[in-house]
Amino acid sequence: MTKLSVNINKIATLRNARGGDVPNVVKVALDCERFGAEGITVHPRPDERHIRKADVYDLKPLLKTEFNIEGYPAPEFIDLVLKVKPHQVTLVPDSPVQLTSNSGWDTKSHYDFLSEVLDEFNNAGIRTSVFVAADSQMIEYAAKAGADRVELYTEPYATTYNVDPDKAVKPFVEAAKVARNLGLGINAGHDLSLANLNFIYKNIPWLEEVSIGHALISDALYMGLEKTIQEYKNCLR
Ligand code: PXP
Repeated sequence: MTKLSVNINKIATLRNARGGDVPNVVKVALDCERFGAEGITVHPRPDERHIRKADVYDLKPLLKTEFNIEGYPAPEFIDLVLKVKPHQVTLVPDSPVQLTSNSGWDTKSHYDFLSEVLDEFNNAGIRTSVFVAADSQMIEYAAKAGADRVELYTEPYATTYNVDPDKAVKPFVEAAKVARNLGLGINAGHDLSLANLNFIYKNIPWLEEVSIGHALISDALYMGLEKTIQEYKNCLR
């Protein structure tokens, strides 16, 4: 079964636009779970422009499903994750000022750094995932560095899906096979939507988890959160 992890950063962005506590991030996360999400993802950034550290601490004791914290492993992030101990940490190579993640790790160039960080999380009993492009060498180095999983950066799939779905998915299927042969679990995320999710799932049915934020929260404006989550889950069958 491929788990749907809802990235709730957009909910925090909406809340922060007005100060105050509307919408309430914890309530939305618990509602996502109630409506069928199998995980919650947050991406705290140093400037706290969406998810704040306090949100991460608030969420941890209340979530009943998989808690995934993603982000760049700066000392402050590492400290937060080690304190909160989520089910999974996903390492993302984004700079603090970046609007959103726009590439996977160069796991070869950053091999020593990633090995050290992964070791720290592995020793703390937190499952590790490394965000990578659909590139077999990057996946091989992620495995060597000690990752439990890789998260495939699916933006290139999403942008070319409309032109030629088979061509768009092919490198991802190849990459997922490489990861599977290395014993890595495979997650996927970025720009997945109701339009393109089922196709990648059908081509890589052994995906462990998809992490989806922007499109899902946008769809919820029209369909409501409950129906939207059901629709995304229907794409994973
Ligand atoms: N995975 C990672 C590592 C991300 O950084 C993001 C965006 O925060 C996502 C998944 C979700 O992407 P989207 O918001 O496009 O669904």
